[in-house]
Amino acid sequence: PRTAAVIPAAGRGVRLGPGTPKALRRLGGTPILIHAIRAMAASRAVSLVVVVAPPDGAPEVKHLLDEHALPERTDYLVVPGGETRQESVRFGLEALPEDVAVVLVHDAARPLVPVDTVDAVAAAVRDGAPAVVPALPLADTVKEVEPAVAPGEPEPVLATPARARLRAVQTPQGFDRETLERAHAEVAVDGEGATDDAGMVERLGRPVVVVPGHEEAFKVTRPLDLVLAEAVLARRRA
Ligand code: CTP
Ligand code: MG
Repeated sequence: PRTAAVIPAAGRGVRLGPGTPKALRRLGGTPILIHAIRAMAASRAVSLVVVVAPPDGAPEVKHLLDEHALPERTDYLVVPGGETRQESVRFGLEALPEDVAVVLVHDAARPLVPVDTVDAVAAAVRDGAPAVVPALPLADTVKEVEPAVAPGEPEPVLATPARARLRAVQTPQGFDRETLERAHAEVAVDGEGATDDAGMVERLGRPVVVVPGHEEAFKVTRPLDLVLAEAVLARRRA
């Protein structure tokens, strides 16, 4: 039974600002998506990578895969993505061959995740956990608020959860295939859809566990994150 990585890369990256879709923007001269694919293929556990491309960007992504050196022991598939991250992940799952038993879902927007983190998540699933997420303690205290009625209005605070019990979750998130497929088939999420696959498994009532994440698995979301990513990459190359 194989382990596959599904990489949702179909987002526009609105918070990063106007321009090329986020996954195709460059980091150290190489598209963010290529970094993310290499990070997953670097794990000996991963033998297939399914890239979920921007809806009309599949040909361009296939071209990128041909252009860049990638490990040859790994297979690569490209499928078009959907309107939401949740839908994109589902399209990736639908493309998996039958012999895949373990699935890692990894944001293209986390290009610098270390291979040790990928290995640790895959190993925890292989050891029997149906759902595994890498996560870190929070630096900031978090408050729950009543969302503002209009932008810029003050927001009443409802609660301050104990910081020591909170974790910021990253990817790759690892799953027993049947568990993740069932979550995507049965769990309905309103609005923008689920931003986190493990949350859908929780809604199924199945156990989800956290393993240590890594600072370098941060998500490139806003312009400052690109500055940090360039610095991390430069330090690695030094
Ligand atoms: N994603 C996707 N399909 C979508 C939306 C998001 O595959 N319809 C992917 C993104 O490409 C990204 C990951 O989900 O790799 C995490 O999402 P996020 O960081 O929110 O990326 P974007 O949705 O592209 O960014 P934004 O929310 O700022 O537009
Ligand atoms: Mg998004």
